[in-house]
Amino acid sequence: MPNERSYETACKRSDEIRADLPLHPESYTMLTGDRPTGRLHLGHYFGTLKGRVELQDLGVKTNVLIADYQVITDRDTTEHIQDNVYNLVIDYLACGIDPAKTMIYAHSAVPAANQLMLPFLSLVSEAELQRNPTVKAEMEASGHELTGLLLTYPVHQACDILFCKGNVVPVGRDQLPHIELTRLIARKFNNRYGKVFPEVDALLSDTPLLPGLDGRKMSKSYGNAISLSMTPEETAKRIKKSQTDGERMITFDPEGRPGVSGLLSTAAICSGRSEAEIAEEIGMGGSGALKAFVTEAVNTYLEPIRARRQEIEQDMDYVKDVLNEGNRRANEIAEATLCEVREAMGMVY
Ligand code: TRP
Repeated sequence: MPNERSYETACKRSDEIRADLPLHPESYTMLTGDRPTGRLHLGHYFGTLKGRVELQDLGVKTNVLIADYQVITDRDTTEHIQDNVYNLVIDYLACGIDPAKTMIYAHSAVPAANQLMLPFLSLVSEAELQRNPTVKAEMEASGHELTGLLLTYPVHQACDILFCKGNVVPVGRDQLPHIELTRLIARKFNNRYGKVFPEVDALLSDTPLLPGLDGRKMSKSYGNAISLSMTPEETAKRIKKSQTDGERMITFDPEGRPGVSGLLSTAAICSGRSEAEIAEEIGMGGSGALKAFVTEAVNTYLEPIRARRQEIEQDMDYVKDVLNEGNRRANEIAEATLCEVREAMGMVY
């Protein structure tokens, strides 16, 4: 892309924003979201959920999107979607997202936000869409053909961010091409029709990515993830089944010993200690002792979140109310923005 900023520039901008957030929380509107394809896990929690709650509690305007239309970018079914959506809401609430402060809503419930797709599509070229490395990687990983939606969902993501005039988007590195495209769309729209949209920046996580139990990327499809919604027993079982190696002495070596090191990283983040320190403590205890340590650390850390989760689960009317109220507010905001867009474009009749 002609205006593409390097990764370093995005990091620098992200660091500046991180420093400014506590000083001027009122200048920021955060928008981020998740695809409702399953339960949230420890990787989501440490990678993004915890950070969302911190922004919320700083007084930033916070918006969390359940990206239900993105489910069908690379799969042909919406099976379990309602259950997945409600469970996402439950996970959010259990982690401390407060619906009085944070708007929680779903794509499909906000028609005016989706309608921004039409003018926005006119602002990008086919070549720009074809170049997106994340779309390519998702297509390859899923084995799905390149549908019109898979090709253009980054534009849809620009609608997500810009309908509420979001200017900070907490994302992982893989989402940077989408943020870049959102910046391009906002800039082009403003140049052509007059200033409606803000400048958007990514807020990159400052905690390193938590690997799965086997050292690979934590992912439900690899069976190496611990969901927030698991019971302590299910957690113990999952940890027990994880692959380590034959060496008795426990050491932290992510390259050479991915299984042992994935377990150490999980224990470290949950106990607030370093991997090396835990490895030294376990020493010749072997993977049995390591697994017992990890299980204890994870279950202790998740205990209050799981207790809240269980409580919330008992009151599905409340869960539905939270989502309905978020959808209602999102519609208000989206309609106001769409009105501005139509006015800027002279489509006032
Ligand atoms: N694409 C994101 C993911 O797969 C989810 C998402 C949808 C999102 N719309 C967004 C993230 C807008 C940030 C901003 O995880």
